[in-house]
Amino acid sequence: MREYAMVKQTINKDSLPYKLYQKAKRHGVWNPVDIDFSQDKEDWQKLSQVQQQEVLDTIALFIGGEEAVTEDILPMIMAVSKKGWFEEESYLTTFLFEEAKHAEFFSLFLEEIGVTNDLSHLLKPAYRQLFDDILPNAMGRLLEDQSHEAMLDAAVTYNIFAEGVLAETGYWFFYEGLSKINLMPGLMEGIRNIKRDEGRHIGFGTFLIQRLIHEKPELFDRVQERLQELLPIAVALTARDDSDLNVNEDGKHITSLGIEEGKSMEYALKQLTARIEVLSRAKGKTLEEINETDVIFE
Ligand SMILES: [Fe+2]
Ligand SMILES: [Fe+2]
Repeated sequence: MREYAMVKQTINKDSLPYKLYQKAKRHGVWNPVDIDFSQDKEDWQKLSQVQQQEVLDTIALFIGGEEAVTEDILPMIMAVSKKGWFEEESYLTTFLFEEAKHAEFFSLFLEEIGVTNDLSHLLKPAYRQLFDDILPNAMGRLLEDQSHEAMLDAAVTYNIFAEGVLAETGYWFFYEGLSKINLMPGLMEGIRNIKRDEGRHIGFGTFLIQRLIHEKPELFDRVQERLQELLPIAVALTARDDSDLNVNEDGKHITSLGIEEGKSMEYALKQLTARIEVLSRAKGKTLEEINETDVIFE
């Protein structure tokens, strides 16, 4: 028999996913189509060829990643549905909608600046390994297997690694670079919105893993093992060719958009450490306390 949470009025409105659902309905409703890219179109022409290439290299990763995560989130929604976690499922309805909009946003940007060619050649092998193989496998497994282990592997790969380590860092640095040169306001506006949406997504993953560890404490070690396996991908993706770097007045190696070499890995590890710290404390907490944990990292 179906457990009707809404009919029985047992829905937990204080649960973190339900609170994220409320936030998403307020903040996740921006429309990529409403963003004005007319200035971006002009600014694009002001960039040097090397800067244009850096923008395209980065956008190719973003758009590919957003498309992949849109496609791959469905098994997670089905898994929480099978478990009868209506609060989680309510939140995830907004998640899928947002990921599709993120992919759409970059597609509109490329269209506006007049880039219409296939960008697949810009995706590195390590990127392909993650998004063509590791991520869809971890997520697809949830269709058959909703065990704590399978849910945890999926959330670590998707939310903590792909969104937390890679996307969040990528967006942060790209945004910093664009702010310095003060160009392409439409692109910046969209990335600001995406960053806020992604904060909720990563927050959801961090909550879910805490819940799983709370129910099965030995799983914390599995989080660390899984991340160890994935970290070489982050290293490969953040590495830059020396030929792409310049030296600034302070002797620092920087990209054409002014992003300092090595800084992104540093930032990624700092964010990751903070999240592992939250996860490590889940063992001794009650579910109520986990629901109270502030998991949005700005
Ligand atoms: Fe996204
Ligand atoms: Fe996301």
